[in-house]
Amino acid sequence: TDTEKGLYPHYMLKEIDEQPSVMRKLISEYLTEDGKTTIDENIISHMASSDRIYIVGCGTSWHAGLVGKKIIEELTNIPVEVHLASEMGYDMPILSEKPFFIFLTQSGETADSRQVLVKVNELNLPSLTITNVKGSTLSREATYTLLLHAGPEIAVASTKAYTSQIAVMAYLAQSIGLKKGLEKASSIDLAHEMAIIASIMDSMISEKELIADLSESFLGTTRNAFFIGRGLDYAVSMEAALKLKEISYIQAEGFAAGELKHGTIALIEEGTPVISIITDEKTASHTRGNAKEVESRGANVLTISLENVAQEGDQLVLLPVHELLTPLVSVVPLQLLAYYASLQRGLDVDKPRNLAKSVTVE
Ligand code: G6P
Repeated sequence: TDTEKGLYPHYMLKEIDEQPSVMRKLISEYLTEDGKTTIDENIISHMASSDRIYIVGCGTSWHAGLVGKKIIEELTNIPVEVHLASEMGYDMPILSEKPFFIFLTQSGETADSRQVLVKVNELNLPSLTITNVKGSTLSREATYTLLLHAGPEIAVASTKAYTSQIAVMAYLAQSIGLKKGLEKASSIDLAHEMAIIASIMDSMISEKELIADLSESFLGTTRNAFFIGRGLDYAVSMEAALKLKEISYIQAEGFAAGELKHGTIALIEEGTPVISIITDEKTASHTRGNAKEVESRGANVLTISLENVAQEGDQLVLLPVHELLTPLVSVVPLQLLAYYASLQRGLDVDKPRNLAKSVTVE
């Protein structure tokens, strides 16, 4: 059944492997045969008439929000702010005239996120919870709900919830953009893009041994590691770093590639692993420049790129996907990298120390 590991050694590996099928399931959950949205018209028109969207989340869900911001802004022209629930709960930003809140939460039970929703409800403002758990607290208490349809996520380190949150926000953004009659929203064929993404995920997962080798050679016995990227690759860098630190206990940070030189580069020593994520044509050469800077200071650089921006020497090259959706594919090898780093250190992959799957205290 869904909640059993079956032949898998760990839930995390099972859940990474399930991502292509979750992507395929979401196509049929969110689009009809003839490509129409299945999202409740009330949600779409409510959001289309808002003047600013506030995304709220914690941990991996917050990271998915950073990606969602870009997708929603591009496809809807509505400005989006992304907030950490634990900060927003005590310090509400100045809100726009017609704000709309999105709560991203795999479990639907995270206390930090809920305390923000309580405030939003006190202010009588509209909200949408995007969650994996039907009937969860944040789902019940928000104005609207959309489900992730990812199946139970058991491993503490979140994987398929991240990719499904991004996918659901893409369907949502497109339907709002279409409602507003925006050309950008009609120009993207999400069913087609998501089918491509699912098959790229499949092929990456089938090459997991390669990632296990990269983990061994690049992360070996290191105590720290850095992930760098720009734009969406920066957002993925932060998620990749979180995955690695959660389960391998390697001190890891995701940095905006261009910001390295303003401080972080001081940490680079002989042999420091730096994972460089390059999927965007506009910024590829700049990020490569940053990777060179750390390399010349002794870093061991591992580059993950898309075919259209790949260069000789990149350790991992993925097939190209729509520019707004690159995190859906670039994150998968990074999830696997964290998985193998944990495994190779003999750690408890599914139940890392000090962490809980769902944190119900503030
Ligand atoms: C916990 C988990 C994280 C998760 C975060 C938010 O800290 O360990 O993996 O990202 O909660 O959880 P949620 O259920 O709200 O998405």
